[in-house]
Amino acid sequence: MRTFAVVGHLAPTGDGFPLDDLPGSAGRMDILCRCVQAALSLSHGIRRDAEIHLLLLGPPSPPKDVLIRGETVRSLSPDERSTAALVRKALALPVGESFRESSPGILVRRGGLAGLLAGGGFAVLSEDGSDVRGERDLPAGFILSDHRDFTAEEETLLGGLPRISVGPRVLQADHAVTVLQNELDRREAGWS
Ligand SMILES: C[S@@+](CC[C@H](N)C(=O)[O-])C[C@H]1O[C@@H](n2cnc3c(N)ncnc32)[C@H](O)[C@@H]1O
Repeated sequence: MRTFAVVGHLAPTGDGFPLDDLPGSAGRMDILCRCVQAALSLSHGIRRDAEIHLLLLGPPSPPKDVLIRGETVRSLSPDERSTAALVRKALALPVGESFRESSPGILVRRGGLAGLLAGGGFAVLSEDGSDVRGERDLPAGFILSDHRDFTAEEETLLGGLPRISVGPRVLQADHAVTVLQNELDRREAGWS
């Protein structure tokens, strides 16, 4: 299983955000939706061996963790608006510390980075990390930030984790997921 987690520093934690303004008043939900596509979409299919956590930190009730599981998700179309609509539906559910399913393969709980990291098995995807191609073994989980740097508090939580880079340039978060998926696909297929 490949697991991705993206911290959405401004992304809403309620269902009141507009689908027509994902980059603006929806707190860069567009970035998170593109990460969902990069993590889970294939041409004419879904990566059933992948999942992605959206760690939402915006108003009104942060933090929330929306988990989209490739194994069981249905109705995931390859566009930002419909992906955001699925996330918005999840955010309408009242939540506690355990995941609740809002639609097949889409779950939500109260919680953020600290709770996720407690399970172990993560690396940080970061432009200042070590070259992924020089790493023989990779963990199953990868944490990214959205358009902002990780905060000092987040960096403290991430401090003990390996940092992996997919290349020398700073990429958009979803592009970093795409490049990493390609690296993992190549390894799985025995290409490198
Ligand atoms: C747009 S960048 C974040 C903003 C960036 N720290 C800055 O202020 O220039 C989005 C995220 O993509 C990931 N990322 C970008 N470039 C990467 C690279 N070369 N290797 C690995 N991850 C990368 C990191 O997780 C990063 O936080």
